[in-house]
Amino acid sequence: MAKDLSFSCNECGASFGKWSGRCDACGAWNSITEDKALSRGPKGKTLGGMRGKTIPLTDLDTQEPEPPRTQAGVGELDRVLGGGLVKASALLVGGDPGIGKSTLLLQAAARFARNGLKVIYISGEESNAQVQMRARRLGLEKSPVRLAAETNLRDILTTLEAEQPDLAIIDSIQTMWADNVDSAPGSVSQVRSSAHELTTFAKRNGMSVIMVGHVTKDGTIAGPRVVEHMVDTVLYFEGERGHQFRILRSVKNRFGPADEIGVFEMTGKGLAEVKNPSALFLSERGAPAPGSVVFAGIEGTRPMLCEIQALVAPSPHSQPRRSVVGWDGGRLAMILAVLESRCGVPFTGLDVYLNVAGGLRISEPGADLAVAAALVSAREDAALPSEAVVFGEISLSGALRPVVQTENRLKEAQKLGFTSALLPRQAKKPAATGINLRESQDLSGFVEDLFGAR
Ligand code: TYD
Ligand code: MG
Repeated sequence: MAKDLSFSCNECGASFGKWSGRCDACGAWNSITEDKALSRGPKGKTLGGMRGKTIPLTDLDTQEPEPPRTQAGVGELDRVLGGGLVKASALLVGGDPGIGKSTLLLQAAARFARNGLKVIYISGEESNAQVQMRARRLGLEKSPVRLAAETNLRDILTTLEAEQPDLAIIDSIQTMWADNVDSAPGSVSQVRSSAHELTTFAKRNGMSVIMVGHVTKDGTIAGPRVVEHMVDTVLYFEGERGHQFRILRSVKNRFGPADEIGVFEMTGKGLAEVKNPSALFLSERGAPAPGSVVFAGIEGTRPMLCEIQALVAPSPHSQPRRSVVGWDGGRLAMILAVLESRCGVPFTGLDVYLNVAGGLRISEPGADLAVAAALVSAREDAALPSEAVVFGEISLSGALRPVVQTENRLKEAQKLGFTSALLPRQAKKPAATGINLRESQDLSGFVEDLFGAR
């Protein structure tokens, strides 16, 4: 008989026959723990000798009713949730310290309470007085949210069982302490087991639970990855410290589209929703300047315009700098290489800085062409026409590829007063939007069209 694999890694889930200090699969240290078998039969056979009950099976086409949802009444939040908070769902909200998670969740708690849910807010990080002070600052001190400052999970679950709320907010999962687990709060096994207890409790009691999770330096939620698999929805709250914009992004959602975003602004009285983010992200744009390009992007289901800025300067270093804020560094290197080898625009000996204005972070490949335009414009010291937006994907061959939702991008650009768009050649012409289309087949044609022959 094959030997039972009875140890597994908390980080990646790999199984092993014996314990070791380092996981061979993912390289994490101290992440391997012994698995307790679900139940062991008399002769040590896993699950043997002890019968479970038979599970009812069902067809694929059985009609399950849509899960009931409650809306917060804040459009930006409801959209990210996929149309409102689903009953008995488990959510994880991650974000850097101080970005505004507690503020967001206190405001959401008040909204859900106002719309008929019984809400309990448990803070493991702040005292009742601190949360009450924040509530006063937000003008929410009269809303019917119940509050407690507690970290003992056993006491919390007992209280939730007695109170039977519709929604519990746990701020944060890293401060929770389950007394049956033999390690300190914040450790991998504590976080994993607290999240597991809370989600199963929530499912069993028809309660929704929102857990706050801190993120590590590399931007993932601290603690085991398994927490992300356990919950139905994972949201990230992002933003740059110096900017007032905050973005709530769904990276996983069992009840709605992933990659949807909600845009907020941090004000002196909490978070305010931003209904027209394009106008906001472009509001700081000055006169047309070399290196500045307006990218017509799509975030989730909504079009969003933003400014991409590049600066190119002779480098005093033997290894020139490549610095990126709000975009992928690897992708920048690729665009520079394509510009150099396919279009004869070299960047050797030049420092390159790229920035997405407003603290936005873009991950779409559709931004390639806007980035390329900003780089060449900065290098040539020639501004692009100020009434033009740019979008399109660049392949390694230098060919331009059309991107999704061209029409929505064009409509948004038109709404904000732009009159032309620089984009890849489209096989299928987009419906007329009153925007003048300047199409290019490949990157060298695009560069030539804008800045003259090389
Ligand atoms: P907080 O919600 O405590 O962040 P987190 O829970 O993610 O650590 O918010 C912290 C920051 O937000 C803090 O620097 C103050 C600022 N803030 C405002 O600007 N306006 C407000 O109304 C509130 C409540 C906070
Ligand atoms: Mg907090």
